[in-house]
Amino acid sequence: MDFSEFDQDDRLIARERLIEDREERSLRPLCWEDYSGQSKVKDNLKVFIEAASQRQEALDHVLLYGPPGLGKTTLAGIIAAQMGVTLRITTGPAIEKPGELAAILTNLNAREVLFIDEIHRLNRSVEEILYPAMEDYCLDIMIGKGPSARSIRLDLPRFTLIGATTRAGLLSAPLRDRFGMIHRLELYTPDELSQILKRDADILNISISQDGLDTISSRSRGTPRIAIRLLKRMRDFAQVKGEGVIDRKVADYGLDALEIDQRGLDATDRRIIRSMAELFCGGPVGLDTLAACTGEDPVTIEDVYEPFLMQIGFLAKTPRGRVLTPLAWQHLGLDCPSDRDNQLTIDSIT
Ligand SMILES: Nc1ncnc2c1ncn2[C@@H]1O[C@H](COP(=O)(O)OP(=O)(O)OP(=O)(O)O)[C@@H](O)[C@H]1O
Ligand SMILES: [Mg+2]
Repeated sequence: MDFSEFDQDDRLIARERLIEDREERSLRPLCWEDYSGQSKVKDNLKVFIEAASQRQEALDHVLLYGPPGLGKTTLAGIIAAQMGVTLRITTGPAIEKPGELAAILTNLNAREVLFIDEIHRLNRSVEEILYPAMEDYCLDIMIGKGPSARSIRLDLPRFTLIGATTRAGLLSAPLRDRFGMIHRLELYTPDELSQILKRDADILNISISQDGLDTISSRSRGTPRIAIRLLKRMRDFAQVKGEGVIDRKVADYGLDALEIDQRGLDATDRRIIRSMAELFCGGPVGLDTLAACTGEDPVTIEDVYEPFLMQIGFLAKTPRGRVLTPLAWQHLGLDCPSDRDNQLTIDSIT
């Protein structure tokens, strides 16, 4: 089996797809009832899908963005299923030449959904083919070379493009503007994650109690992919260390053994905030200094660790560097210095 499409990072709470997530396709919901959370996005899409279906038209183009593992691919599948059409899947980096995208587009049937994952990674010349295709449902193709070259226009069936990206900021403005709907997926609440896990546990034949569900959900960083991964790990703990059922005791034991704490932080997350507290009195501290003190790579800290710490309000970025918030001090069980403002000035001078 070719694992190249998977992320090789084996961090258990990585949001990106890892090798151990390969069976996730079997867990992907196919209808709205099974897709928990994201109610705003869901409610809007339901209306637009119903309206388009009644008029026998294609749905307007949709851009889905948000961190990995929140359900973008899953949502694209549901949209196609609800429209009653086939979902054609490709990814930005897989389409190397304009001709390849032209071939994909001309092979679509009316109202079908083309899903382009990682759409921010399309190369520029390929992207330009998309503009007239999305706007006017046509392709402009050059035939021949030199003085005899001429451009012909091909009509395309009315299709729906669903683009997914984790980095909406990297999308070019002309491409972004051609989407009729832009939806941002949000982190899930622990209750929503519990619902998702309950369904997945049934499918995977895993016995789990309500307090077991709640324990895993609250430590999964608001991300279904992480929750599912932890569920599978806890099944092993229940089997070997417990009675086969994941209850709160087993889940607490297992997650502690994996060093995932109450807020879903792992050992590296904690090492970062702890060194900020202990070595720099909470900051501000520059990225390179922090990287040197924790033994991590600056880019990894910025792309992998910081975003979640900022999301849960443990870390803030200021022009002078990163600072810890009182919430992070509290989480570490340390007293937040009361003279934080003075502290910030002193730190920035020295
Ligand atoms: N709202 C949801 N309800 C139930 N299950 C969900 C939901 N969202 C995601 N999942 C589950 O989480 C897994 C990961 O979701 P999915 O692959 O759609 O994420 P993604 O946003 O496309 O991630 P990536 O950016 O890495 O492509 C799926 O296998 C699915 O089972
Ligand atoms: Mg995906």
